Amino acid sequence: MSSLTIVGISGSLRTGSYNTALLHYVQSIMPPDIEFKELLLNDLPLYNADMEAEGFPESVKAFREDIAAADGVLIASPEYNYSIPGVLKNAIDWASRAPSAPFSGKPVGVLSASNGIFGGVRGQAHLRYVLFAVNAHVMNRPEVYVMSAAQKFENNMLIDEKTKEFLAKYVAALIDWIKLIGRK
Ligand SMILES: Cc1cc2nc3c(=O)[nH]c(=O)nc-3n(C[C@H](O)[C@H](O)[C@H](O)COP(=O)(O)O)c2cc1C
Repeated sequence: MSSLTIVGISGSLRTGSYNTALLHYVQSIMPPDIEFKELLLNDLPLYNADMEAEGFPESVKAFREDIAAADGVLIASPEYNYSIPGVLKNAIDWASRAPSAPFSGKPVGVLSASNGIFGGVRGQAHLRYVLFAVNAHVMNRPEVYVMSAAQKFENNMLIDEKTKEFLAKYVAALIDWIKLIGRK
């Protein structure tokens, strides 16, 4: 039986996404007793209150239920125009709605990767702000901003040893954070 369930979300739909590759690398180094499930954003419709009034679409229901059932959430997202991609904001908006608002009280870790020299720092700051709105408990530190991503990934795999070393520490900290918040 696994001790914790973590759901992972990539803010990029791109096949060769650095952020999805980053998420997959983190998944690969999770301890064996962690159940890690990736949630895809592809099937979520654009938020529309009229649609919500008729009942959450099946894809939205499943997304919300997976977050609600998880002990923690890990989001790896690119920065688009100094903020977060619309697909990610749309997903968080769907998940923010009553009755369950499943991000509320949930421990969350955030990562970003960009081919630029800032590693998506501005987008990640916006992501933290949006998660504040939905009352998630975002881990403040350690912070991970993977800069110059084109040099650190090859064939959708992380190849940079220093980043790998840092991510090992990040995963340990995230699990501690999830356990800490889960005890509250
Ligand atoms: C619409 C758009 C806006 C972008 N804006 C930024 C930006 O503000 N800062 C940045 O570092 N990179 C920006 N980028 C570049 C992305 O960081 C880069 O494409 C990255 O590889 C996307 O993440 P992914 O590899 O996970 O798909 C932008 C890309 C797109 C498509």
